[in-house]
Amino acid sequence: MHFQLNGKQVQVEAPPMKRLLDLLREEFGLTGTKEGCGEGECGACTVLLDGQPANACLIPVVQVKGRCVDTIESLQDQHPLLKSFVKENGSQCGICTPGMIMAASVIQAGASRREVQEALAGNLCRCTGYEAIFRAVKGAEL
Ligand code: FES
Ligand code: FES
Repeated sequence: MHFQLNGKQVQVEAPPMKRLLDLLREEFGLTGTKEGCGEGECGACTVLLDGQPANACLIPVVQVKGRCVDTIESLQDQHPLLKSFVKENGSQCGICTPGMIMAASVIQAGASRREVQEALAGNLCRCTGYEAIFRAVKGAEL
């Protein structure tokens, strides 16, 4: 099966119902994508599927055939969101952070606080109380 992963065409043999989350971590070594709940509730496994945030724990591999998947590893070290999360202490234990950043990566520049909150509503964080995360997203110069 072919699909595009972080900008490159890849081919993989995998059981069709294997979770995309496991495929990324086990077959491609992309361990930036985390597992929290494993059932679509926490957003820790958020990747972009055709440019839209999606929970990789809920997506069977068969559904990504011919599509584009982007993970946290697709972002350059100097990406504004990464720098802003560091500056604002938007990450503590870090489990939620890659998913949070991938969900935030599609937020339009100049989004209001409410729009940021709504865009990240599916991403849970047990550590930060969210304020630092919202500051980091709002403060990122996208
Ligand atoms: S691990 Fe996928 S939503 Fe929680
Ligand atoms: S930093 Fe620990 S869950 Fe968000």
